[in-house]
Amino acid sequence: MGTIIEPFRIKAVEPLKLTTREERREVLARAHWNLFRVPAEEILIDLLTDSGTGAMSAEQWAAVMRGDESYAGSRSWFRFRDRIRELTGLAHVVPTHQGRAAERILFACMGVKGRTVISNTHFDTTRANVERLGGTAVDLPVPEALQPANEFPFKGNIDLAALEQRLSAAGADIACVIVTVTNNSGGGQPASMANLRAAGELTRAHGVPFYLDACRFAENAYFIKLLEEGYADRSVESIARELFSLADGATFSAKKDGLANIGGFLASNDDRLARQEVELLILTEGFPTYGGLAGRDLEAIAVGLNEVVDENYLKYRLASTRYLGRQLVQAGMPIVQPPGGHAIYIDAGTFLDHIPPQEFPGHSLACALYEEGGVRGCEIGTLMFGGEDPVTHHERIAPLELLRLAIPRRVYTKSHIDYVGEVAARVAERRASLRGLRIVEEPAQLRHFSAKLEPLN
Ligand code: F0G
Repeated sequence: MGTIIEPFRIKAVEPLKLTTREERREVLARAHWNLFRVPAEEILIDLLTDSGTGAMSAEQWAAVMRGDESYAGSRSWFRFRDRIRELTGLAHVVPTHQGRAAERILFACMGVKGRTVISNTHFDTTRANVERLGGTAVDLPVPEALQPANEFPFKGNIDLAALEQRLSAAGADIACVIVTVTNNSGGGQPASMANLRAAGELTRAHGVPFYLDACRFAENAYFIKLLEEGYADRSVESIARELFSLADGATFSAKKDGLANIGGFLASNDDRLARQEVELLILTEGFPTYGGLAGRDLEAIAVGLNEVVDENYLKYRLASTRYLGRQLVQAGMPIVQPPGGHAIYIDAGTFLDHIPPQEFPGHSLACALYEEGGVRGCEIGTLMFGGEDPVTHHERIAPLELLRLAIPRRVYTKSHIDYVGEVAARVAERRASLRGLRIVEEPAQLRHFSAKLEPLN
């Protein structure tokens, strides 16, 4: 059959609230033109993030009921730990309430102060955690990753030549190399196994630990199966295991490929580091057998980590993301090619080339999609990554001005996506009338979450 269907049926539904354009204009003004400040009730199709927004399966809900809420040594903890050990091959598993807690604990224990962390591209929380601890976060994506129209399949790769140069020049000052799979800030594209293997060997040869930010490991593994020579006949589970086997450790947000609404972990084979991590965990997250999660959350994640490597699920997942990409291209919007695993990134810098980066073209487009049809996306550009550089004190400009439309897992149907395409086409018709915005109030870090903005005339 040519039609790729959702490989599930719907058991529980949530009503969506329909609003008028007039109402949405008022909502935007009340929210100071920051979509993070808009109550979710006022959103029709919420593509702000794929993080924690997925629908759990009947098996996961059943597991929730089996959750063991014992403070120490709960049954759910052992199920969680064992599934992670099986998948990653990493001995020490530290449960955390979400991905950024794993990052904070890792970087604090590793000691990044005055040192550098290298990535293909740090996600915003990863970068912020490095910088808050006095470290420097350096991104070394392959050049293709910065060319939105380039169809190179592995835009999540790290630039090996640049990595070698950095490692040779400053080996001892590099705290770790952490590759984000898939590369969320770049376009959701995968890193190839060959690139990860080479990066790992290079990094370890300089005595530097090699980590994965493994939030979307299953989508990355499925891309490898589809696109990299030698993997077509392998199961996603075995590709995922190979992926983790290349790393000394991993951080993970279970809100993505854990198919859960909350949770995460930090894992490694380093006995000494793990002991320090657990000490800090007890101080700030919780006892080492729950780490800030309920027993039921641990259960949901353990089941989610099984379901996410199901190839029918992954086939549908990548097809539905591609489908949204096609809708947007038909609507006349340039997108980062090829489509990523969890999201489509509209190249707002190109689409709205009359709005300079300092006036946030990606965010202008985000506001327009909301006003037009109640669709919420998330700017990934100078609003997110700009602001004052902590080292040079210059205003930063992001390498690309993107609007990300991230697709929650197992939530929206094809007609929801068709609707998004129609909204995008209407916005595209009035492209030239879209205006930039300016910030009127911003916090010191992660400003996109809470800044107040106003439209420019
Ligand atoms: N790393 C990556 C690559 C991420 O995409 C995220 C979260 C994190 C780390 C942090 O995990 O949210 O559980 O603390 N990304 C979400 C997003 C927020 O919308 O892409 P967390």
